[in-house]
Amino acid sequence: MKYTAKAAISAIALTVAGAAHAEPQAEVLHWWTAGGEAKAVAVLQQEFSENGGTWTDMPVAGGGGDAAMTALRARVLSGNAPTAVQLKGPAIQEWYEEGVLADISSVAEAEGWADVLPAQIAEHMKCEGDWCAAPVNVHRVDWIWANKSVLDANGIEMPTTWDEFNAAAEKLQAAGVIPLAHGGQSWQDATVFETVVLGLGGPEFFQKALVDLDQEALTSDTMVQVFDQMRTLRGYVDDNFSGRDWNLATAMVMNGEAAFQIMGDWAKGEFLAAGKVPGEDFLCASTPGEGYLYNVDSFAMFEVDGDDKKAGQDLLAKLIVGPNFQKVFNLNKGSIPVRTDVSLDEFDECAVKSSEDMKASAENGSLLPSYAHGMALRGAQSGAITDVVTAHFNSDMSSEDAVKMLADAVANSM
Ligand code: BGC
Repeated sequence: MKYTAKAAISAIALTVAGAAHAEPQAEVLHWWTAGGEAKAVAVLQQEFSENGGTWTDMPVAGGGGDAAMTALRARVLSGNAPTAVQLKGPAIQEWYEEGVLADISSVAEAEGWADVLPAQIAEHMKCEGDWCAAPVNVHRVDWIWANKSVLDANGIEMPTTWDEFNAAAEKLQAAGVIPLAHGGQSWQDATVFETVVLGLGGPEFFQKALVDLDQEALTSDTMVQVFDQMRTLRGYVDDNFSGRDWNLATAMVMNGEAAFQIMGDWAKGEFLAAGKVPGEDFLCASTPGEGYLYNVDSFAMFEVDGDDKKAGQDLLAKLIVGPNFQKVFNLNKGSIPVRTDVSLDEFDECAVKSSEDMKASAENGSLLPSYAHGMALRGAQSGAITDVVTAHFNSDMSSEDAVKMLADAVANSM
């Protein structure tokens, strides 16, 4: 359906009983502050204003959203929750259990979300059967990004196994190029770690280790090998990696200082925002191995007072899942639409690959939730794992010790 201001106004009149004249207001907490991210969120802001809404922006910088989640906790504890919050995975249900989320089922039902969203993803948006979040996109986490001319100049193809990756990295290092652009922040360490778990262990192992938290998988030889590979990767990172933001690592690949970055496809949003062309300036490939790690951004609406704010929540939820927003936002963000009925005609080859791989992996059972991006586990468990991954990456801890620490940390977090 083509969205018009008139349609928006009548939708609000229908869905917000007794608030026909309320002017939609929304204070929106998000962490989209890097170049590609900011361009993408501006699309939502603009659609909201065009449909009569007043947007109050609450950006909290910090990749992966850790700082945003701390800010959210402070606001909710002080009894002053933002209207809409970028929130995802089991954290949605955790906040629901606190009794602070609004039910957006009336919008979801009026808009037929159940018919246009993949079932596995729709489940993440529900709290005890009611809709409690609106999905924005599907980001894939298990990607390698590369500077094409750096690879060409060194006679290197995109690696398809971790051994090939290591061989390419050794060659680049010998040629004076930083093999791996990385930012030493715990969520970035976790991002790389989960792609190695998937790649070396395979989809079933990933499920057991990082979704089911199976002790046998966590203490297995495979997990030792995963930490070995993390140690190897540590050797491919430059000395100044500590604390570096992810988008600065992407910039190192863009300007040829580094060859590769392992990062979700929000990195593609950065390349595109800088005018870089996939296949010409930069390359994308899934990290070695089978499977697909998904990371779905979504917004949850918090319980707030005032018809204007409730109208804002309804309008925002409706726009987010609307077909136009799904296309334009995701063209900027680097992700793919979460709706299954949006054409990918205007999307690039990396997005098309993401979509095809997602379908294939859903069919063969290797479509898996990202632990590093809060899709697989509750905060206590994912935090316990990430602490170990980071402690190992930033020390000379042995793989065997890391595995022991991992198993204990997970057991203690339950
Ligand atoms: C979010 C992305 C965001 C990235 C970097 C991820 O967890 O899902 O939307 O671009 O973090 O901040």
